[in-house]
Amino acid sequence: QSQSSQSVTPVEQPAPTQVKTRTVTILYGSETGNSQELAEQLSKQLKDMQRDVTVSAMDDFKPKKLKEAEDLLIITATHGEGDPPDNAIQFHEFLHSRKAPKLENVNFSVLSLGDESYEHFCQTGKDFDKRLEELGATRIHPRVDCDVDYEELADEWISEVIGILKKDAGNNAETVDTQPTPAEQPIYSKSNPYSAEVLDNIVLSGKGSNKETRHIEISLEGSNLNYEPGDCLAIYPKNDPALVQAIIEELKWNPEQTIPINKQGEIRSVQEALTSIFEITRLTKGLLEKASTYFHHEKLQQLVTDPEQVKAYIDGRDLLDLIIDYPPKQLDPTSIMHFLRKIPARQYSIASSYQANPDEVHLTLATVRYHTHGRDRCGVCTGEIADRIKPGDQLNVYVHKNPNFKFPMDEKTPVIMIGPGTGVAPFRGYIEEREELELKGKTWLFFGDQHFRTDFLYQVDWQNWLKQGYLTKMDVAFSRDSEQKVYVQHRMQEKAKELFEWIETGAHLYVCGDEKRMAKDVHETLISIISEQGSLSEEAAKEYINKLKQEKRYQRDVY
Ligand code: 2AM
Repeated sequence: QSQSSQSVTPVEQPAPTQVKTRTVTILYGSETGNSQELAEQLSKQLKDMQRDVTVSAMDDFKPKKLKEAEDLLIITATHGEGDPPDNAIQFHEFLHSRKAPKLENVNFSVLSLGDESYEHFCQTGKDFDKRLEELGATRIHPRVDCDVDYEELADEWISEVIGILKKDAGNNAETVDTQPTPAEQPIYSKSNPYSAEVLDNIVLSGKGSNKETRHIEISLEGSNLNYEPGDCLAIYPKNDPALVQAIIEELKWNPEQTIPINKQGEIRSVQEALTSIFEITRLTKGLLEKASTYFHHEKLQQLVTDPEQVKAYIDGRDLLDLIIDYPPKQLDPTSIMHFLRKIPARQYSIASSYQANPDEVHLTLATVRYHTHGRDRCGVCTGEIADRIKPGDQLNVYVHKNPNFKFPMDEKTPVIMIGPGTGVAPFRGYIEEREELELKGKTWLFFGDQHFRTDFLYQVDWQNWLKQGYLTKMDVAFSRDSEQKVYVQHRMQEKAKELFEWIETGAHLYVCGDEKRMAKDVHETLISIISEQGSLSEEAAKEYINKLKQEKRYQRDVY
């Protein structure tokens, strides 16, 4: 319609109403790639409608351009204790600073992803939503906060937002087919996982270790799944049958009774639903609130009115504790879909190279076992794999691409990898890939664990790669072999000069593993190394690191 300039007889006709469609800016803050994936999906649908769309990570977006944004759609995860994801930190800070512009001409809506079992659930999304309003922008659709099983709500938000933008564009925006094009072969994904055979399941840690670290190998043969170094494998675990049975007995349910498991009306037996569909090992504030309306238990109804008590109660407890402590009166199993959430998939950094083993994927898992509130418990997925999965068994899996943990595949870029404990997994995959592609060049690994004798994960692999030249340097820190604890960051500090030289000549830095202590301390150490070696103030060193981050030369996969 807007092509009327080609008309040669414009005289009789009224000038076409040139309703210029507003430009759409989609900004995402993504830690593991889910928000990014949704942002790209939304962008594609809008582009199919001929809309003018830009999509980018928040920190890659020039804040000055914010004023020109017309329709601004924010999709963001929240990290840890309510912090923005790595690629949203600066934008978040900018928007909350005095420098933030007035945004009276901007329309916006926020989709936030989070995990309800965290206290600061969806905090970053809430921050943006509130701040954009404060800056004068108009909310065109209410914010939606999603829990870990975010797909349904996210899809709803996307289609509602698209509906609003379509209306807003009037009939000027021609809708083309917005259906995704069907793929030729089945594509296994989060919503359609692949049932993969386990090929091997061995304990890596030696006798006497405080840990039980496993190496498992899974077949991807015939799945068409592929991955790159840094990607994750997601596994849908099954709950412990003993726990399922205890719950069923406690509630005097019939395990064979069929019950609905979603709004679409799919059904499963009670047994199957509690084993494979619903999360029963974790309580959240939302779960308690919803359960209180089904349990008809006065004390539970009282409990949910006190957030502090709720927080204390849910810590470390599961559904069995809840039904023992607050026995429901007449709880109908058909109601469980209204208060239990779906079992979320667990993501593990892949420890193998697809190029080297196209039909396999290897993982490094630390089994989580603990005792609390009077019972021995274990991690749902690592416990299942340790106690119930043998070679020949199946696991439901899909590959989760991690765009924020990507390695250079050339011989020129030096690479520094910091991965204590199971954090070493992606580096094994990366070096294996370099070996397969015969890429030499400078690579440096910092590994740490408790004891040399029992916890030197993949020791033989590293030694071979050192010999062959695929790994150039390796420094290890065994924290409990000496009186004074030594950690990876102490080794980094010892090699500060060389480390800084590598960075100055363009090295990429990778950190994988424990977030709260290790990654934080490693980050501090990097700042101090850069400041000392580069004769920079702390502020300047922080800026230096931020620049590395922006250039994607400092990437982390921490948990
Ligand atoms: P620790 O258990 O002896 O304290 C892998 O788990 C390794 O990371 C272990 O050697 C562990 O040591 C170590 N670790 C614990 N806290 C750390 C921290 N803040 N920084 C670096 N490594 C740490």
